[in-house]
Amino acid sequence: MFASIGFGLLCGSLVSLISSFSYFSLSNSFISACKSLNLSSGDALPIVNATFENQWGTRMLVGLPVGLSSTKVMDQQRAIAEALRVTPDNMEMRYDDGLIIDIIKKEMPIKVPYREGFGYKVFIGVNKRGEERFYDFDGPFPHLLIGGISGGGKSVMLRAILTQLVFGPAPDLFLCDLKGGVELGLYRELECVKGLAITLQQCRDAAAAVEEEMNRRYSVMFSNGSQSWEGRKMVFVMDELADLKTRAGDPEAKLKQEIKTILTRISAKGRAAGVLLVLCTQRPSADVVDGLIKTNIAASICFRTRDDTQSRIVLDHNGAAELPDIPGRLIFQSARDETLQAPFISAGDAKQIISKLPKRILELEAEQHEHGSSQTDPLDGNFIELR
Ligand SMILES: Nc1ncnc2c1ncn2[C@@H]1O[C@H](COP(=O)(O)OP(=O)(O)OP(=O)(O)O)[C@@H](O)[C@H]1O
Ligand SMILES: [Mg+2]
Repeated sequence: MFASIGFGLLCGSLVSLISSFSYFSLSNSFISACKSLNLSSGDALPIVNATFENQWGTRMLVGLPVGLSSTKVMDQQRAIAEALRVTPDNMEMRYDDGLIIDIIKKEMPIKVPYREGFGYKVFIGVNKRGEERFYDFDGPFPHLLIGGISGGGKSVMLRAILTQLVFGPAPDLFLCDLKGGVELGLYRELECVKGLAITLQQCRDAAAAVEEEMNRRYSVMFSNGSQSWEGRKMVFVMDELADLKTRAGDPEAKLKQEIKTILTRISAKGRAAGVLLVLCTQRPSADVVDGLIKTNIAASICFRTRDDTQSRIVLDHNGAAELPDIPGRLIFQSARDETLQAPFISAGDAKQIISKLPKRILELEAEQHEHGSSQTDPLDGNFIELR
């Protein structure tokens, strides 16, 4: 027994010796890197105040001398990572009452199972530390732009988001799927889905109906003297924004321009009226995204992009072109950037999950039968048919 306790103690001390060794070598390497990169204030260098070993890797808490800003250190992230013999992808830095440096040793999963969120907070993936991340439709960044190459995982992400949104306080949904409804058609019969547009004309009508409702809400808010809409939210979802790109001599140019103009107005005014946008694009181009919508959409989900230009259009900086070629791998940008692996949900599973929900057309018909055609929601009669 004593032998086994002795052996346990020996192992324990060895582990702490190794970890204190890695602590010293890591903090020493960090300090030497700061020295050679001139990250100091006069003679004063940063100090590593503490190091914690976690199941995902190591966290260093760093104190900075007065006069040395955290942004100056963070700008040198790549050089510091290389000095610490860590791939820059596996190092994260942020400032929160001191500089926090995470060195992540855990591999990111390549498949994350779908799970439900909490009301307007939808589950969008796990980060490098294995922590779950949510996007809040009731949060400070309510419009969402989703970009990335074909096969990146945009439609699967939309499916994960919609399958969560239709439960709980389901917003009124307007879905535009110009791929003939193959991606979003499965939601069309749900009570909360007010329209599914599969042609540009239907898409324009849907956008116009949403804008009309936004303006109606503004009038209600104005007469109530309220600053924001307390009722049900409304979300306009578009699976491919690049379809709005116009070419020379495009016969549909006017229609496309009209849609872009309406979406721009919604992106600028919608938030206070609880009218939100979720826009996807495979080919982010300045023509469609820049200025028009991006200025008012602060949150982005960016899967791998073809090049740095596309990455900059979605995220305002490079990075997405260097993501590994793994479907569902993305950079989520809200207040700051984070790499996530998105949850996977197949169309079949989504269909099965939502099959429990009330169907719109049948219920509406039954209701109209019962109460005549009196309707309280001005949008109920505006369903844009699939055929
Ligand atoms: N989160 C994920 N986890 C694992 N695999 C995924 C994930 N997302 C997508 N995939 C895989 O990648 C395929 C393509 O995904 P998806 O249809 O969402 O791409 P997309 O970005 O919408 O492409 P496109 O621009 O061509 O429409 C899926 O059929 C699936 O096999
Ligand atoms: Mg798609």
